[in-house]
Amino acid sequence: MAKTVVATAFGGPEVLTVLDEPVPAPGPGQVQVRLRAIGVNPYDYKSYSGAFGVDPAQLPVRPGIEGAGVVVAVGDDATGPTGPIAVGDEVIVNPGGRAYTELITVPADVTFTKPAGLPWEQAASLLSSGTTAVDALTTTRVSSGDTVLIHGAAGAVGTATVQLAIARGATVIGTARAANHDALRALGATPVEYGDGLLDRLRELAPNGVDAAIDTAGTDEAVDASLALVADRGRIVTIVAFGRAEQDGFRAIGGGDPDSVRIRREARLELVELAGRGGFEITVAKTFPLADAARAHAELQEQHPRGKFVLLP
Ligand SMILES: NC(=O)c1ccc[n+]([C@@H]2O[C@H](COP(=O)([O-])OP(=O)(O)OC[C@H]3O[C@@H](n4cnc5c(N)ncnc54)[C@H](OP(=O)(O)O)[C@@H]3O)[C@@H](O)[C@H]2O)c1
Repeated sequence: MAKTVVATAFGGPEVLTVLDEPVPAPGPGQVQVRLRAIGVNPYDYKSYSGAFGVDPAQLPVRPGIEGAGVVVAVGDDATGPTGPIAVGDEVIVNPGGRAYTELITVPADVTFTKPAGLPWEQAASLLSSGTTAVDALTTTRVSSGDTVLIHGAAGAVGTATVQLAIARGATVIGTARAANHDALRALGATPVEYGDGLLDRLRELAPNGVDAAIDTAGTDEAVDASLALVADRGRIVTIVAFGRAEQDGFRAIGGGDPDSVRIRREARLELVELAGRGGFEITVAKTFPLADAARAHAELQEQHPRGKFVLLP
């Protein structure tokens, strides 16, 4: 049995509860992992909010898409992208659901050896934001010499995108509230405050426009600025404003699109290795006990410190 956070109804964080649930033994090609840390993502609270529908057959919803821990059992042929997996291995898992738990059985192909020295909290928070960032940069074809505008640059996905864009040789302009500007400068980006007058401030920095824009904020202000500054709509992407993307003829990407599934799957191993070499870093803002997932979700939906929230079983 394992303490597991589930949503027993659709609604706000108050519908979360902790249950003792059985955990299946690993079958062929599976491993069982005792989680040491679990990454918290906005997708987790959206998964039971009703944003993706309110079909009662989906209840209870078991949130949680990423974590890190120690392998406690393996099935036959348990080989992951980083090689064969054995009991005692320290791993990162990216199962795409059910990760708000002490103990999880997952396919070996979403299980990666954790780089030695990478703290549990960072390891647990690496893949969701990191693979989304790679997808956004690949979709907008960002490469050396480009100037890219990143909306919400101090957020979890934004910070990952800034680091990976700079690693590709791009120049980054990133929007954030003023309190996050020093942190963005430290990553090598030029910060700009979002809010009234955003487009004027951006035009001062980039009078001839920018080559590409990546939106992690989803506001009309962000979308309008991207449309005004990027000549080629094929080089604008949002991960939030799906309605505006359809209306204005640019790309919105999500984990369910076939192209995104492929790009994100292919990116995972490289991101783990890059993080192990110190070439890509996740900032952890705050940790919560697993049983306080509802509090973490409530705080994440408000203005919150820069970086990821992490649950500790
Ligand atoms: N489609 C996908 O595949 C996908 C994947 C991952 C995430 N997402 C979505 O992407 C969004 C961001 O996720 P996240 O994990 O990065 O969240 P996060 O860590 O909470 O970051 C959100 C950021 O938005 C910024 N922000 C708030 N109001 C803004 C505004 N008016 N203009 C510009 N920026 C603003 C905040 O910046 P300041 O702190 O500087 O105020 C904050 O850093 C969420 O809606 C999430 O569900 C989508």
